[in-house]
Amino acid sequence: MDLKLQNAEIEDSDNWYEIADTYWQNQPSTVDGMLGGFGKISKTDLFASRRFLLDTISDYSKETQFKQALDCGAGIGRISKGLLLKWFEVVDLIDQNGEFLIEAKKSAVSTKDHRVGELFACGLQDFTPEPAKYDVIWCQWVLAYLTDDDLIAFLARCKKGLNSHGLIFIKENVTCGIVEEVDLQDSSVTRTELAMQNIFHKAGLTILRQEFQKNFPKGLFPVKMYALM
Ligand SMILES: C[S@@+](CC[C@H](N)C(=O)[O-])C[C@H]1O[C@@H](n2cnc3c(N)ncnc32)[C@H](O)[C@@H]1O
Repeated sequence: MDLKLQNAEIEDSDNWYEIADTYWQNQPSTVDGMLGGFGKISKTDLFASRRFLLDTISDYSKETQFKQALDCGAGIGRISKGLLLKWFEVVDLIDQNGEFLIEAKKSAVSTKDHRVGELFACGLQDFTPEPAKYDVIWCQWVLAYLTDDDLIAFLARCKKGLNSHGLIFIKENVTCGIVEEVDLQDSSVTRTELAMQNIFHKAGLTILRQEFQKNFPKGLFPVKMYALM
């Protein structure tokens, strides 16, 4: 399909964000619900993310601290619980769906040293992280819900939300082809790698490391992990 036509489809859709909001209100507060019925991939996903996070910090950014992280599009806190809270002292969560965040707070394992911090029930397109607050901002399987312009602006705000050695981690589906794929059922857009790179560039971000997720079932979109600063 013609790329311009697809972008027009998004821009013409006045209720782009409402459609996604309604879609997610109708999904169960479970790992399967978060992963479109593919809950079984969660362990493999978290294992690869942990390695990517720790290797990146060890190889490229040794001064990054493990104090404060932000989980963007956190849903029921699958990533906070399975990854971020194991490493960061405090993890803030943001998701447009407040019900998911309540579930996340209930189920996340907080200890004296590692705990859930602030919960922001808000769309990423409307959210500005506090300046210089975060060591790591993690965005996974949520950026597809933002239009290109909103995504560029959001990532630029995230950059300001990082402290001096902070990093942004992004893990998203990408298309194999040269054209992005729009899903009008949940108002999402699966972008090409080139589109992702252009967006990072426009947001003023530099790619430190990038890698494809391995060992997911065949038939799913390729999933790419990026570390940015
Ligand atoms: C596929 S789930 C991923 C959840 C979590 N990142 C994970 O990997 O388990 C997508 C999440 O993004 C949230 N979401 C969708 N559009 C959003 C937006 N514009 N702003 C913030 N959150 C959004 C949904 O409510 C849902 O919790």
